[in-house]
Amino acid sequence: MSAPPIVAFAPGRANLIGEHTDYNDGLSLPFAVAEGVTATAEPRPGDFVLVRALDHGEEDRFALTSDAREERRGDWRDFVRGTVGELSAAGVALRGGEIAIEGTVPEGSGLSSSAALEVALSLALLALAGEAGQRGLTPLSDRVALARLCSRVENDWVGAHTGLLDQLASLLGTADHALRIDFRTLETRSVPLVLGDWRLVVLDSGERHTHAGSGYNERRDETERARALLGLESLRDARVEDLARLPDPLDRRVRHVLEENARVDAAVDALHAGDLAALGPLLDASHASLRDLYDASTDAVERTVASVRAAGAAGARMMGGGFGGQIIALLPPGTPDPAGARDVAPSAGARLTRGAASE
Ligand code: GLA
Repeated sequence: MSAPPIVAFAPGRANLIGEHTDYNDGLSLPFAVAEGVTATAEPRPGDFVLVRALDHGEEDRFALTSDAREERRGDWRDFVRGTVGELSAAGVALRGGEIAIEGTVPEGSGLSSSAALEVALSLALLALAGEAGQRGLTPLSDRVALARLCSRVENDWVGAHTGLLDQLASLLGTADHALRIDFRTLETRSVPLVLGDWRLVVLDSGERHTHAGSGYNERRDETERARALLGLESLRDARVEDLARLPDPLDRRVRHVLEENARVDAAVDALHAGDLAALGPLLDASHASLRDLYDASTDAVERTVASVRAAGAAGARMMGGGFGGQIIALLPPGTPDPAGARDVAPSAGARLTRGAASE
C-alpha cells in the first residue's frame, strides 16, 4: 500500500499593528488567520518536482537541481522554484514528488498569500525529504530558521525586499493570540487576543499591489539611507532628537518607525488589560502615520478606511505593505456588518495536517 500523501497547511496573516517596522529592527503584533495555503505532496521517482497550482489551473515541472534565481517569471512559479532552491542551498536532500497547492487567501490582498505559499511548500518538501534528507543540518524544525529561509525566497527569487513579519506570523502564530515580535532579537511573545463580542475585519481596498513593484522597496531603501546618515547600526537606536538631522522625507519615515514601535507596546498593554476600546485610537494613529509620514496610502485605501469608520469601526488602518491591499478594522459589539468586510480571527500557525510526520 502506498504511503498517504503529506498535507501541509500554512496560514496567511493579519497585522494588528506595527507596520513597516520589521525591516527596521522594530516591533510588530501580527496574528495568523484561518485562511491559508495547503500543499499536498506525494513522492515520485526521479529528481524533479511537478507542482500543480490548482487555483490557477497551471503547473510547473522542473529538475530539483535547477537554480534559476535570475530567471524571474513574475508569477507563482518564482515562489515555488525559490523554495526548492533555498531548501537545496540549505543542504536538504530533496526528493522528487508531485505537489498540489491551493489556497484560500486572496493573492495580492495584503493577507500574505505569498508567505503562506512558501511556508506550506517548505513544510511539505521537508516532510517529503524526511529525516534522512535533513541529516546533519541545522534543524529546519527551528521555525525562526525556516522563516528566514522563506524570506530569502521573497528577497532573492521574487525580488521583494520584504522583512520577516509574514513568515514568522505564519509559522509561530497560535489560536486566540497575537504575536509580539521583536525584530532586533527575533524574540517572540504570544499575547492573548480575546475578542469577545468585538470583531476584527478586513476589507479590500480593491487595489492590488505587488511588493516587488510598489513603493515598498523604495521605503525600505529610504529607511536604510536614514540609518546610514545617522551613523547607527540599527534604526532601533534612533531617538526623536535625531530626526532634525535628516532631510525630508527621511525624517518622516524614521518618525513613523519610532512612534509605531511605541504603539505596538501600547497595544500589547491594552490586550493584556483586556481593553479592546483602547486599541481603536492606536489603529487610527498607525493609519495616519502610514499615510502622512510614510506616504504609503492611496485614494482607494483612504476611501475604504473612511467608509468603515463611518460604519462604526472603533479604529481602522491600512495593513501590510500598503499602496493598496487590505484594511483592518476593529468593530465594537453590535456594529452592523460593513459592506465587503470579512472577519479575521487569530488562528493556529503552520502545520502538517496529514502524512508521514504529522505534528
Ligand atoms: C509586507 C512585508 C512585511 C512587512 C509589511 C509592512 O507585508 O511582507 O515584511 O514589511 O509589508 O509592515
